[in-house]
Amino acid sequence: MDEDDAVGGYDLSIGYERDAVLLEDINMSLKPGEIVAVNGASGIGKTTLLRTFAGLLNPLEGKVSIFGKTKADRGEVGYIPQRLGLIRHASVHHNVMMGAKAGHTSAWFPFSKVCKHHTLEAIDSVGLMHKLRTPIRKLSGGQQRRVAVARTLAQKPRLILADEFLSELDEETLSMVMQKVLDYVKENNAIMILVEHDFERAMQMADRLFTAVDGKLVEIGANGA
Ligand SMILES: Nc1ncnc2c1ncn2[C@@H]1O[C@H](COP(=O)(O)OP(=O)(O)O)[C@@H](O)[C@H]1O
Ligand SMILES: [Mg+2]
Repeated sequence: MDEDDAVGGYDLSIGYERDAVLLEDINMSLKPGEIVAVNGASGIGKTTLLRTFAGLLNPLEGKVSIFGKTKADRGEVGYIPQRLGLIRHASVHHNVMMGAKAGHTSAWFPFSKVCKHHTLEAIDSVGLMHKLRTPIRKLSGGQQRRVAVARTLAQKPRLILADEFLSELDEETLSMVMQKVLDYVKENNAIMILVEHDFERAMQMADRLFTAVDGKLVEIGANGA
């Protein structure tokens, strides 16, 4: 496998402070098109793991490699955080356009057809075209989560990091959003690491499953094996 196409953590230890390592000796490598799910008890370090891959936090030990670099290029990583980080007074359209803009430095890009197209395509894919001009604060929890997914899809990332991104969705919306994200990953040969507490859903989405337990990240098997 070409390292420039892969995402991985090698002898990686993560945490916020050196004397409080959360997970250690992590070794995982993902190739294009691959989806990995991580579960584990609350507070064990799952969100910290995604933050480390997102480049928001430095590893305590070892290294992260994102398409051959220790930090991703602008726009390359789409992070769907557990706390969504949407701009609450701004509209659905504005928030999703922020995603489409990520990775483009030109001041003119937001006015381009490509930016418009990516924005509307993503909003449509999560079924929120009728809420285009609605401010985030007027949406339900599930609708807000769909905006966060759309923001990431509009960005066209090579790596998606999704933290319990299906929470608060009703069954029907959940399968729709799940399918859109899976389609995106497969069609674009992207890579996805997701934190998912629901085992059934993790099995549905992921090629491989890891569980965080006793300070380690253990691979519990290839899906379908
Ligand atoms: N910004 C931070 N600074 C210091 N400690 C933190 C910070 N964020 C989270 N923690 C602590 O790190 C541990 C792991 O948190 P987290 O990765 O969010 O767990 P999980 O996502 O598995 O529930 C928890 O004990 C949490 O309190
Ligand atoms: Mg978490």
